[in-house]
Amino acid sequence: MKIAVIGTGYVGLVQGVGLAEKGHEVVCVDIDKEKIEKLKQGISPIYEPGLDELIEKNIKAKQLSFSTDLASSINGAKAIFIGVGTPQGEGGAADLSYVYTVAREIGESMKEYSVIINKSTVPVGSAKKVADIIKENYDNEFDVVSNPEFLREGMAVSDVMNPDRVVIGTNSKTAKKIMEEIYKDFDCPKVFVTPESAELIKYASNAFLATKISFINEIAGICERVGADVKEVSEGMGLDKRIGDKFLEAGLGYGGSCFPKDTRALHQIANLNNYEFKILKSVIEVNNNQKRLIREKIKKTFPDMRGKIFAVWGLAFKPDTDDVRESPAINLIRWLIGRGVKVRACDPIAIENAKSHLPHEVEYFDSPYDAASGADAVVVITDWNHFKEIDKNLLKEVLGEHNIFDGRNIFDPREMKELGFNYHGIGRRV
Ligand code: UDX
Repeated sequence: MKIAVIGTGYVGLVQGVGLAEKGHEVVCVDIDKEKIEKLKQGISPIYEPGLDELIEKNIKAKQLSFSTDLASSINGAKAIFIGVGTPQGEGGAADLSYVYTVAREIGESMKEYSVIINKSTVPVGSAKKVADIIKENYDNEFDVVSNPEFLREGMAVSDVMNPDRVVIGTNSKTAKKIMEEIYKDFDCPKVFVTPESAELIKYASNAFLATKISFINEIAGICERVGADVKEVSEGMGLDKRIGDKFLEAGLGYGGSCFPKDTRALHQIANLNNYEFKILKSVIEVNNNQKRLIREKIKKTFPDMRGKIFAVWGLAFKPDTDDVRESPAINLIRWLIGRGVKVRACDPIAIENAKSHLPHEVEYFDSPYDAASGADAVVVITDWNHFKEIDKNLLKEVLGEHNIFDGRNIFDPREMKELGFNYHGIGRRV
């Protein structure tokens, strides 16, 4: 099927490439000329394992092309995906201006029936709003469908090719048929619901996962007070199939481009509809506190930290991505610098992205050992394998003082103690 995907950011690009790989003829559109030029040469603007290879392969197979011209790209396309950004706007609500601009342009350029598919995360009621905007300039038949994405950064290629489910929100039989055709080679349950339910499924799923994280972080707080170990508690809980073992890792809380934004947006949707979403309010509050928790632990060991040297391991909000949005590393490093600490930051791929968010005093290192050399403490922010697989004896040799603040519980407290480290985890029993 001929498909146009508007927006070559995270959502649009990965979706477009995934559909091309499944045999559709896909054109990805963006207003950013430089980005499109690079993509035409097979260079991806984002770091995502496996993506570059798929782009190159599908360009060669003529399944995938790139363009800055929306009007000609949607001409003849049976389906048009909208995958542009929905950043956080005023009061926590999602800013839909990019989605609306694209909807207007589609309305102005469309010549025959198409299904317009909202892939971006948008508030409940947006499918209708997009349809209203298209109608301002287009009088014939069309449908707007909600088809939320559930991609995890770092895993996006495998998530797009092998999703747990595909959620499709539509009241139209014609649109349903086209969506069935688009996803016929995706081997997973397809959930057909109304557009409103589909829009809510996306927010509810992310809010639920965020709730699991904040829940286990609160349990970690209790563990520290009663002498229990949160890893043991989450393992014991996770074996109950009704609970499951995923998203029960205590640490510095959730970051990234989705959870913080989507939890705030859902809270705002509830407010606007006169509903007080009490649990979600607490989830957000717990997460904000969690990011700051490590500061208290650092202050206890270093009441005066002026002139100390800290190695900060990890700048990305999670492993396997170069994304630093809402990463706990950013505010922690600013806080440390503000207290006169010399910060040596280390990350396998996120250094370039982090630089523009951090004070100029920060020094950057590729090697975790170099960053830690002669330092007074190591603070682990991101659970990269790179750090998990560290040679602890070598680390002990190079570190000046043997303080480890492990914000992601990547080390075993007992082992670290035996090795002579002054170890602080989150909710761990030493
Ligand atoms: C998330 C959703 O998983 C995805 O479905 C959605 O479409 C986009 O948002 P992503 O932001 O890539 O994906 O990250 P994810 O792997 O879900 O992790 C989010 C954050 O939660 C990270 O900061 C991670 O460190 C944290 N996390 C995750 C925990 O603190 N504990 C856990 O147990 C799991």
